[in-house]
Amino acid sequence: LFSAIEMAPRDPILGITEAFNADTNTAKINLGVGVYYDDKGKVPLLECVQKAEAKLMEQPTPRTYLPIEGLAAYDKAVQELVFGADSPVIQEKRALTVQAIGGTGALKIGADFLKRFLPGSDVYISDPSWENHRALFESAGFTVHNYAYYDAATRGVNFDGMLAALKAMPAGSIVVLHACCHNPTGADLTQDQWDQVIAAVQAGNLVPFLDMAYQGFANGIDEDGAVVRRFAATGMAMLVSNSFSKSFSLYGERVGALSIVATTSEEATRVLSQLKRVVRTNYSNPPTHGGKVVATVLATPELRKLWEEELAGMRVRIREMRSAMVEKLKAKAPGHDFEFVREQVGMFSYSGLTKEQVGKLRDESIYAVDTGRICVAALNSTNIDRVVDAIAKVL
Ligand code: LMR
Repeated sequence: LFSAIEMAPRDPILGITEAFNADTNTAKINLGVGVYYDDKGKVPLLECVQKAEAKLMEQPTPRTYLPIEGLAAYDKAVQELVFGADSPVIQEKRALTVQAIGGTGALKIGADFLKRFLPGSDVYISDPSWENHRALFESAGFTVHNYAYYDAATRGVNFDGMLAALKAMPAGSIVVLHACCHNPTGADLTQDQWDQVIAAVQAGNLVPFLDMAYQGFANGIDEDGAVVRRFAATGMAMLVSNSFSKSFSLYGERVGALSIVATTSEEATRVLSQLKRVVRTNYSNPPTHGGKVVATVLATPELRKLWEEELAGMRVRIREMRSAMVEKLKAKAPGHDFEFVREQVGMFSYSGLTKEQVGKLRDESIYAVDTGRICVAALNSTNIDRVVDAIAKVL
């Protein structure tokens, strides 16, 4: 039965973790996957999470099934976080939120839902985009195209190219936009550029699908969520996937959500009913623990405050690593300008390293994505010198 099955390629990101795990060098460094490590090289277990878990354990509850759309308290808290508690789309009951299996799960149920109701539309993702975007939308049956985004010459956004691409998309096209902390480039749009993107999406009758996996890692929770609110303010139908993997350091709990804004509350009710069918036929209903933890933190003022502080701590440490990397590279690789690393936002730096150079780093047990994306959030005061030395050597 399986004799003709070919070996699939390793996943471009998680495959690196597999190779890293198999490496016996004790000095190995994983700059591949988007995971935040603290300065001791450990994935943090946030204090707000520990306190929420302790609170939940005071009254242990049976692990019954959650509703198909997830824990109501979680969906409400996420909706308020994503759109703002006073958002008209919430007050008018035009927004609906479904708990999802991480950000990837949110994208997948959104993709399956869209394929059912917009079967003739194509999907457009940025060039480049998160490695899984194309595969995910293709697996839902879509044809996926790129729109211009990154300009390697300026290390910034090719905004004219992006705008021209948006204007050329057929009406009804689904356009996937990174709400903040563009993955993999770390190059975000300015407020003024977002205004122009929103106008083009609206004028072209496009379907915006905002992916927000790194809220809080660029400038702050509200600042990073602002673009979602601006899209929502237009009255357009839209989709937003979000994830708490990074912002709560809850990677393995798979806590994310898909929110959809409909034109009327009645339409929102119908959309929700269809989304529930998508969830039911994929995995029935989401798991309990992570959703409860996040809902508890978001709804408990002192825990929420603690979360914001802890998230700010991660954001600041990443910035410090960016600066340290730039300064150290100035000394070790004087002919090369890495100032752009300081300007990029979020967990990643699109370093400009070639696939061959990344391969050479791997020979030294330093793992990065083949595209040259490195996870700055995995640098720390102990490993940064080795990383900088190795980069300087391969340049
Ligand atoms: C990443 O881009 O490394 C993360 O989003 C993890 C993943 O699932 O790919």
